[in-house]
Amino acid sequence: MKPTRRDFLIGTAATLALPDIARAAPTSLTAQPGMAQLVPPDFPATPIWGYEGNVPGPELRFRQGDRLMRRFVNELPQSSTVHWHGIRLPNAMDGVAGLTQDSVEPGDDFLYGFDLPDAGTYWYHPHDRTYEQAARGLYGPLIVEEAESPEVDRDLVLILDDWRLTDDATINESFGAMHDRSHGGRIGNWITVNGRDAYAEPVKRGERLRLRLINAANARIFTLETRGLRGWTVALDGMPLEAPGPIERLILAPAQRIDLFVDVVAEDEALLVSLERTGDFALASFPVEGEIRAAPLDEPGPLPPNPVPPLGDLNTARRIELRMEGGAMGRLREARLKGVALPIRDLVAKGYAWALNGEAGMPKMPLTAAKRGQTIRIAMNNETAWPHAMHLHGHHFRQVKPDGSVGPLRDTLLVNRSEATEIAFVADNPGQWLLHCHMLEHAVAGMTTWLDIA
Ligand code: C2O
Ligand code: CU
Repeated sequence: MKPTRRDFLIGTAATLALPDIARAAPTSLTAQPGMAQLVPPDFPATPIWGYEGNVPGPELRFRQGDRLMRRFVNELPQSSTVHWHGIRLPNAMDGVAGLTQDSVEPGDDFLYGFDLPDAGTYWYHPHDRTYEQAARGLYGPLIVEEAESPEVDRDLVLILDDWRLTDDATINESFGAMHDRSHGGRIGNWITVNGRDAYAEPVKRGERLRLRLINAANARIFTLETRGLRGWTVALDGMPLEAPGPIERLILAPAQRIDLFVDVVAEDEALLVSLERTGDFALASFPVEGEIRAAPLDEPGPLPPNPVPPLGDLNTARRIELRMEGGAMGRLREARLKGVALPIRDLVAKGYAWALNGEAGMPKMPLTAAKRGQTIRIAMNNETAWPHAMHLHGHHFRQVKPDGSVGPLRDTLLVNRSEATEIAFVADNPGQWLLHCHMLEHAVAGMTTWLDIA
């Protein structure tokens, strides 16, 4: 039998040994227009774009080591792809339009298939005109369960988003507006959890919940607190902490995730609140109905670590500088665009407002060409007046503190205004990987570069 390209993608070696079910056609994931009741029911529903027409898209849930197979079908009026945020996967499956694959035209499809090496909380979203497509509702949770489930009573996914809605609850179509590009990105005027205006989930006193928080907003940084819940942060960006930490004030930048284990201690209602300028805003309510146990469960131990390679010697690691410049109130006077130096007014006329190492927009040359297995340090210097949520594709990194100690594994790091910080990671995944700001208007306005790992 002659192997077809599809057999090749599925993996010829395993095909014969697998039961029929595993060889069946992969389930599809269709991006299409739909309607969502983002606002209270006495207001109209909102036309959105969503996976399967819903926001959030379907919760894709697997077990660590499983293979994800989805045929992406594009029923949108523009080209699109799917990026599997935080998954350490083969480069060709990373879904970056124009870098790792051609964008999928309306009416076309693309088969994604890859193994899931790490347990944790991840998510998926387009990587083509992301600032528009994510703002219209294209995103969903991708959950990879540990080989052995930890002791919790319930596992709840909460995807946070903000929307810019008009008075009749339609999406304001000011996608990629220059003001958003050059300031804090597209900040909405309406917040949802799991695409709903009022998230409420009845719980029992003494119940232990695992809350998987995902920030799917284009640019909003959430500052969160819990009320009536006692618990621990157990993972960041999918990756388990070596020791569960206390929950204080939680900062959740765009694209970041936090996993919490919480015990319900409230008498009648527990809350997840967002601290907004206008005051506390209840994102999620957990009305208490009865009791599940009188004494709380024991303190949780750490989740089992994922098989991420340990950092090599930081003293001999390759060190790269990343100068972040531009934006409103910045000092950027000129930058190169596709190799040509342009003054800031010309850059702005073309929609650019930021530069990484003096390059606005996706540079021809990578930030670095690394050898597989090398430990890389990137010293990020935020010379702008804005915070940026810097995301590296295909790898998790650790922040390197000034004293040389390292922080937890992450895939997206919030770099505050005027902050200089370093990250380090093992470049163990060959291919072309983006490094960009996950404030999506910043990414398209100049804060995108890439690494080449051979
Ligand atoms: Cu969440 Cu480059 O993406
Ligand atoms: Cu940014």
